[in-house]
Amino acid sequence: MSEIALRQESTPASAPAREDRVQWLQDAVLRNRFLPQPAPDSVFVGDGDFKAVGAEFLGHFIRMGGLLPESRVLDIGCGIGRMAVPLTQYLDFEKGRYSGIDPVEGGIAWCRRFVTPAYPNFAFQRVDIAHDLYNPQGKISGKALKLPYADRHFDFVIMTSIVTHLPPDEVLVYLSEIGRLLRPGGRLFMTAFVVDSVAAANETGRRDPRLAFQRDGDGPCWFVPELPRLAAVGFDDGFLDGALGRAGLTAITKSLGSWRGQAADHYQDVFVAEQRGSGA
Ligand SMILES: C[S@@+](CC[C@H](N)C(=O)[O-])C[C@H]1O[C@@H](n2cnc3c(N)ncnc32)[C@H](O)[C@@H]1O
Repeated sequence: MSEIALRQESTPASAPAREDRVQWLQDAVLRNRFLPQPAPDSVFVGDGDFKAVGAEFLGHFIRMGGLLPESRVLDIGCGIGRMAVPLTQYLDFEKGRYSGIDPVEGGIAWCRRFVTPAYPNFAFQRVDIAHDLYNPQGKISGKALKLPYADRHFDFVIMTSIVTHLPPDEVLVYLSEIGRLLRPGGRLFMTAFVVDSVAAANETGRRDPRLAFQRDGDGPCWFVPELPRLAAVGFDDGFLDGALGRAGLTAITKSLGSWRGQAADHYQDVFVAEQRGSGA
């Protein structure tokens, strides 16, 4: 962190200099052998290299989301710390705060053991939310969820690869909670599969073949017939935009991802949305 601070003081605040710093930070995360990394057989949050995916998203949070070192961050569905570990290298040790929640005990236990002792500004909490795949015995329904934090407490909320596993009624509950938890000007960074016309028709023929989405009845959801329903969830284009609006959030970025077969520097679709409320 000190090298970044020195570079901030000695370079003009131009876009290329900032970009250099973000790239340097991402490279530093990738090179750092001392960052905690779970055993490959305990990584349940998706395929891909744990460290590389984390470093990639750290870059997206800063570049697309405008995340600042002093932000108070909530990571919903933090899993086994894939986003938290790289964030330890960016969030300010004194002023930055991170809270991660997830229904899977193993991921939370690993993060508490390997992240919090070195970074006490990083807290992890298990919330026993029911989920058909991740936590089938869970006691709390995602349809009646109240997250254990005060109104307007956070500057930045992360939801990476979460709504890609949730039914639409639970997405609405989460977004409403995020609208409550974000301070005015605070932001949500959310990834999703938006089934737009290109994705639905596989117009380019290059859509990820694992995501052969088919519409589920009259609702906004698209599922993959060969997979359990919540293994991969897509939404009609417009559903998430409308849900953000109903939660008092304004989408400031909607960036379509490469999963549909079009060029992008991220795989899933990305929304960045801002809490525009007065906070009254
Ligand atoms: C694909 S993983 C993504 C994990 C993490 N966000 C990441 O990108 O590394 C999906 C995560 O969602 C969590 N999850 C499942 N149901 C949830 C719910 N109702 N609320 C919050 N998280 C949930 C799972 O336990 C799992 O850690």
